[in-house]
This record gives sequence, C-alpha cells and structure tokens, in this order.
Amino acid sequence: MDIGIFYASTTGNTEDVANLIAEHLGDSAHLHDIAHEGISALEGYRYLILGIPTWDFGELQEDWAEHWEALQATSFAGKRIALFGLGDQIGYGEWFVDAMGLLAEVLLAQGGELVAPWSVEGYSFEASKALNADGTHFVGLALDEDGQHAETAERVSVWLDEVCKAFEKI
Ligand SMILES: Cc1cc2nc3c(=O)[nH]c(=O)nc-3n(C[C@H](O)[C@H](O)[C@H](O)COP(=O)(O)O)c2cc1C
Repeated sequence: MDIGIFYASTTGNTEDVANLIAEHLGDSAHLHDIAHEGISALEGYRYLILGIPTWDFGELQEDWAEHWEALQATSFAGKRIALFGLGDQIGYGEWFVDAMGLLAEVLLAQGGELVAPWSVEGYSFEASKALNADGTHFVGLALDEDGQHAETAERVSVWLDEVCKAFEKI
C-alpha cells in the first residue's frame, strides 16, 4: 500500500511530525513537502496523510494557502485521508488547530473520506474549527508542540495504529 504524506511547515514542527510518521510507516510512505513540490502528486495516491499547522489566529499556513484553490478543484473521491494538525492550545486557544478543520471541509466537499478522528480528552482550549459535530473528537490528530511536546510521540503512535486499520478496511 502506498501512502502519500503531504505537509507544509513554517517553523519545522509539522515537518518533524511528518518525518516521525514516515519513520513509523517505513517503505510504504512517501513524503511530500508542498512548499517545494506543490500538491499535484496527491492525485496518485489512494491513501493520504495530510499535515497542516494553524497560523495567524485561525488561518492556513502560507504554503497550504498558496495551493488552496488547486485543492478546492481536486477530486478526492475514492481516497481515504487521515489529517494531523499542529497548533498551540494555550497561546491560541480560541483558534486551536483551526486549519485542520478548514482542510477537512474542503476534502469532504471534494468527495474524500476522512479516517482516524482523535478524542479531545487531554486538551484544554476554548474553540476549534477542527471538531466533529458533537464536539467529542477532532477530525484528525491534534498536536501541540508548544505546550504538550512530551505527548506527541505517544499520540502519533496510537493514532497511526488507527490510521493503518482504517486504510486496510476496504
Ligand atoms: C504568530 C503565530 C500565530 C499562531 N496562530 C495559531 C492559531 O491561530 N491556532 C493554533 O492552534 N496555533 C497557532 N500558532 C501555533 C502554531 O500552529 C504552532 O507553533 C505550530 O507547531 C507551528 O507549526 P510549524 O512549525 O509546522 O509551522 C501560532 C503561532 C504563531 C507564532
């Protein structure tokens, strides 16, 4: 199974997590930094892991923003997609991982299937656009390298087990 990991990262946190995910998955995973490669290779994968940090009070990270229109014109029908979002729940608790929610909206509108939601337990924030309808889960893995770095490795490991199960279930 080929899995495409696409991410962009302004200060390196999302990149570090993308590398960690790729290490876990081994040969089946292929890393793509959209700042350098854009998003055209997305179309070649049935299984996707997309990583996005939130910047500037609930906004998209700049490289994702640059490719947003193209993303909105891409079909994700037949694709299974797992999301991870980076944010800072203490410094930016009113907009915690909002960009992951914005990304989820586009992917769903374009026919994608999102897998591996993540419980809000263990986080403390005021609001997030990345919550599911009943507010119990994020639409993907929420990570906070600013305030909860120590949790990241374990969260990634547990979440990837869920992602792999969801990818294999046809
Ligand atoms: C100026 C600034 C604005 C930010 N805005 C948000 C925000 O609105 N919501 C959020 O959850 N995190 C916010 N963050 C935190 C970043 O998302 C976080 O540091 C993340 O790990 C950065 O990822 P990157 O290194 O991959 O770019 C902000 C950080 C800075 C410095």
